[in-house]
Amino acid sequence: MTITHGDEFMPKPLVCVVGARPNFMKIAPIFRQFNSVKHLISPYLVHTGQHYDQSMKDTFFQQLGIPEPDRDLGVGSGTHAVQTANVMLGFEPVLDDIKPFAVLVVGDVNSTIACGLVAVKKQIPLIHVEAGLRSYDKTMPEEINRILTDQISDLLFTTERSAVHNLKQEGIQEERICFAGNVMIDSLLANCQKAESLAAISEKYQLRFGLEERTFALLTLHRPSNVDDIDTLQRLIYTVIRISEDLPVIFPVHPRTQQKIVQAGLNNLLENAKVLLLPPVGYLEMLGLLRGAKVVLTDSGGLQEESTALGVPCITLRENTERPVTVDEGTNTVVGTDPEKILTSFMDVMVTGGKSGRIPEYWDGQAAQRIVDEIVRRYF
Ligand code: UD1
Repeated sequence: MTITHGDEFMPKPLVCVVGARPNFMKIAPIFRQFNSVKHLISPYLVHTGQHYDQSMKDTFFQQLGIPEPDRDLGVGSGTHAVQTANVMLGFEPVLDDIKPFAVLVVGDVNSTIACGLVAVKKQIPLIHVEAGLRSYDKTMPEEINRILTDQISDLLFTTERSAVHNLKQEGIQEERICFAGNVMIDSLLANCQKAESLAAISEKYQLRFGLEERTFALLTLHRPSNVDDIDTLQRLIYTVIRISEDLPVIFPVHPRTQQKIVQAGLNNLLENAKVLLLPPVGYLEMLGLLRGAKVVLTDSGGLQEESTALGVPCITLRENTERPVTVDEGTNTVVGTDPEKILTSFMDVMVTGGKSGRIPEYWDGQAAQRIVDEIVRRYF
C-alpha cells in the first residue's frame, strides 16, 4: 500500500547503506534506477564512514554520480567489533527518524551486517544485494558477514546461479531469492566509455614509463590473509618483482597494504623494480587500467568480476573464490599464494594470451532495473 497524505500519494522511504569502496559501484546503478519510481520510493542514503579517505570515498561518489549521502555516520577504522558496534550505534537513530519501509544493503563489508542487524531487530524488512556468494572460508571476515546477512534478509538478490544454490542449501526459502544479475557490471558498462585513457593516467600520476595496451600487469592486494602476515606479503611481493622482469606491474596500493609494506621494509625493493606504486585510484582510472592490462593479479572480489566482464585474464591470489562463475565461464584462474603456481599461471598468459571466457548470464547492465522492479512488485 502506498501511504497517502490528503489526496497526494507520498513515496515511501527506503534506507540504503554504503560503507566501503566496493559498495559504491553497487549502489550507483540502483540509485539511478530509483529515478524511474520516484512516485513510489524515496531513497535515503546512509554512508557509514567505514572508508573515509578522499581516495577511498569522495572520488567514487563524484565519478559514479552517487548523490551526497543524506547521513554520514563517520565511524572510521577500528577492530571488527569496534567498527561494527559503532555502525550499529550510529544507524539505529537513523531508522527511528526515517521509519523506512525497508533497508537495502549491498555486498559483504562490516557495514552490511551491522546495518542489517539493526534493521531486523526493529522488524524492518532487509534487502540484500549480492546475496549467496560463498568462499566456504570462515577465516575471511566477509564470509561471516555474507552468511549472517543472508540469514536475516527478507529479499535476497543474487549475481550468479551458484549463489541461489548456496542460499537454498542454507535453508533460505526460494520465494525470498531473486536472481537479478550483477549491479557491479551495470556500473562497468555504464562507465566504460568514460574510462580514463592510459595516456591520461601516465600523465596524471607522472609514471616513470608510459602505459600502452597489453604492456603491463595490474596488481591489487588488500585481503588481511595476504597482507597482514609478513611472510605471505613478502612471498607475494618477491613473486611480483619476478613478474615485473617480464612485464611491468602497475600497483595501486590500498591504505592497509601501504602500511604493511612500509612495516615490512619492502618499499625500497618495489621502487627499484619495474613496479609502479600508485595511491588508491578512482573508479574511472581503475576501469582504464583494467581494460588496458594484459593480465590482472588480485585478491579482490570485484576485480575478478570486472576482468571477466572485460575479457582480461585474471590470476586470483587466493586459495578460493566466492564468485565461481568467473572461473567456470570467465577469465579467472584461482592460484593461491604459492610463487611457483603464480609464475606458471603468469607464463601461460604470456605464452598463450591466457584464458578467454564468456559473459555470465544477466551481467548485461540491467541488474538494477530487475532489482528495483522486484522491490516494487514485493512492497507496493
Ligand atoms: C574493507 C572490506 C573488504 C573490502 C575492502 C575494499 C570489511 C570486513 N572489509 O576492507 O571486504 O574488499 O574494504 O577496500 O568490511 N584505511 C584508511 N583509509 C580509509 C579506509 C581504511 O587509511 O578510507 C585503512 C585503515 O588503516 C584501516 C585499514 O585501512 O584500518 C582497513 O580498512 P577497513 O575498512 O577496516 O577494511 P578494508 O581492509 O578496507
